[in-house]
Amino acid sequence: MSVGTACGKIILFGEHAVVYGRPALAVPLPQLRARARVEDRTDVGILIQARNVGRTIHLNGKHDDDPLEVIVRRTLETLQVAGNLKIEIDSDIPLASGLGSGAAVSTAIVRAIAAHFERALSPNEISALVYETEKLYHGTPSGIDNTVIAYEQAIRFVRGEVSVSFQIAHPLTLAIANTGIASATFNTVGDVRRGWELDPARYESIFDQIAQVVRDSEAALASGENETLGELMNRNQLLLQELDVSSAEIERLIRAGMNAGALGGKLSGGGRGGNVIFYVGPEDADRLHKALLEAGAMSVIVTRVGEQN
Ligand code: PMV
Repeated sequence: MSVGTACGKIILFGEHAVVYGRPALAVPLPQLRARARVEDRTDVGILIQARNVGRTIHLNGKHDDDPLEVIVRRTLETLQVAGNLKIEIDSDIPLASGLGSGAAVSTAIVRAIAAHFERALSPNEISALVYETEKLYHGTPSGIDNTVIAYEQAIRFVRGEVSVSFQIAHPLTLAIANTGIASATFNTVGDVRRGWELDPARYESIFDQIAQVVRDSEAALASGENETLGELMNRNQLLLQELDVSSAEIERLIRAGMNAGALGGKLSGGGRGGNVIFYVGPEDADRLHKALLEAGAMSVIVTRVGEQN
């Protein structure tokens, strides 16, 4: 049996504007993982079992729009291999919540199949394969999720450019609060696109302002001036509000977090649900964690980012 795993991810700054060519910063969440196991089976064909979403699929080549089928088929084609296989998938990463669950599951599958056939794929090759399934989840994805997850590094991402990892001089503590509301990125990305089509000048100006926040954040992280990050998160959140991808629930959690000592907070990912991230001093993390649960967060993860840099 061969196993492949992949991490979740969080976008620190720059979502949505990144679809329009602006930079964004994302980091891996190594403690949240998707796993795939591949083994030979005696029955003919390929069986995919995704227990945590209650799905059993017999791969028959008919569903070009099913990400699980597409990633298995594309990986076998790329490696030019075939076989009767059982592929089991499970994941700790909540679905449709901005933590990269779709890209992580696809990456785990690619790695497990490659391992099964004793083949090596580079992070870039894995990222390119996973991007194909991201199109099915997202419509017009920037490619940030598959990149940060395939490389498992802090990534400064610009669409169409080679991604580079960015420096985090001093690790930071983040609280990641799940609103419990599943929100498909496909929808918010589509709504932003419609807004941009109606009023391109206004949207381009918002994207430029987000790009400035990303540049300022990158400089702060590189020089260790973490005290400015809270304010930068708040600025990014105001701009995301202007794009109309926030929600009453997100705003409520942000207010509760700020009242409990967070230094800044913003939605992360597609928005209108999913996760809200907070920058917090380590000494205030427990208080923030408790306050966010009391304010209705479904779950809260406190994590350190940049520890390995
Ligand atoms: O919802 P997520 O975490 O998969 O992130 C989407 C990020 C967007 O910028 C909104 C879309 C994209 O493809 O970059």
